[in-house]
Amino acid sequence: MQINKISLDRLTPFETPFYYYDMELLNRTLQAAKVAADKRGFHIHYALKANFNDKVLAAIQALGFGADCVSGNEVQKSIDSGFPAEQITFAGVGKSDKEISMALKHQIFAFNVESIEELQVIDEIAASLGERANVSLRINPNVDAHTHHYITTGLDENKFGVPNSELEQAASVLRDCKHVDLVGLHFHVGSQITDMNVFKSLCVKVNEWKNWFEERGTTIKILNVGGGLGVDYHHPDENPIPDFEAYFDVFDKFLERTPQQEVHFELGRALVAQSGTLVSRVLYSKSGVKKNFLILDAGMTELMRPALYQAYHKIERLGLSTETSTLNYDVVGPICESSDCFGKEVSLPISKRGDLIAIRTAGAYGEVMASRYNLREEIRYVFSENVGG
Ligand code: LLP
Repeated sequence: MQINKISLDRLTPFETPFYYYDMELLNRTLQAAKVAADKRGFHIHYALKANFNDKVLAAIQALGFGADCVSGNEVQKSIDSGFPAEQITFAGVGKSDKEISMALKHQIFAFNVESIEELQVIDEIAASLGERANVSLRINPNVDAHTHHYITTGLDENKFGVPNSELEQAASVLRDCKHVDLVGLHFHVGSQITDMNVFKSLCVKVNEWKNWFEERGTTIKILNVGGGLGVDYHHPDENPIPDFEAYFDVFDKFLERTPQQEVHFELGRALVAQSGTLVSRVLYSKSGVKKNFLILDAGMTELMRPALYQAYHKIERLGLSTETSTLNYDVVGPICESSDCFGKEVSLPISKRGDLIAIRTAGAYGEVMASRYNLREEIRYVFSENVGG
């Protein structure tokens, strides 16, 4: 059940702060994505980096999504969570030899390769293990995602992928690698993208590069267009499920492909963000000289996005309010950093010690980015079924 519909007496017994996962909304979101993708013959690999909570992963795996991993531990986690090896991809600019060996031994579906040197290292390790590696070459398409610069990945100045200028060399190295098979091309331009024109521009680049390879006699079986679909942080109740139809439609319309060519997506945020909420308790309500502060028992250690990217998350007081007057608060955490602030000048019903506060749309890049800074306790979580939701 949606967090703001649950009666307070059901939430009060749980020690705060905790992540609350609305499993019903998660399942509805996953279903919507699956229906929209299946209809067009598209494949989704869930980007584990957004959330690798066991129960969340189990729900995703149960629907038959693949797994997109960025570390050896994520590869292991997806295998332990029941994702079949042939549906696991391994991306990232800095894969270690140990991680590459481990993924090869598990015979995962493919490596998304980010540099020529990495290609050669994978070839050497595969040779030494007597394995073969499927690879998709990540190309940096120089497409501006028009999102926060920290989560833009497809520009020339970003560290990701092989630049256009090195493609000729990459193609020649690929011909020399005897233990590597090129299966696809991989692109990812950024995250929290809400302007569908960005994906249209991406399609144009993908078509260009696919043609470039095909003109040189190389068959491209898979077009992996990454993830990046954004969610509505401002209106989680009005838009709990992203518009997967509109998103996939862009690729369906603008990506040139043959019936044999598969289109793969690596969605993270869009699948899990709205189903997670950080629930916290007011420790103190304090009037400063210029501001009113609500000091919560959750801080940047539990949800880092506002401190790191000045990200907006909707903040609400939970429970039916008899208090009609509101006040503008800076909603802050207990961590010894001034950036430990969830929102400035947030209008809330006048709140007091013990009140419960919800920080919405925190299911993606929330729990996974929690830290133990200030020797904080490990993050707790509660599922909708635990509160009868
Ligand atoms: N594929 C690749 C290669 C990626 O780098 C990412 C995200 C994804 C897929 C999944 O993207 P999504 O569908 O979730 O947008 N911590 C930041 C987001 C970092 C995204 C990193 N890469 C945040 O909290 O906004």
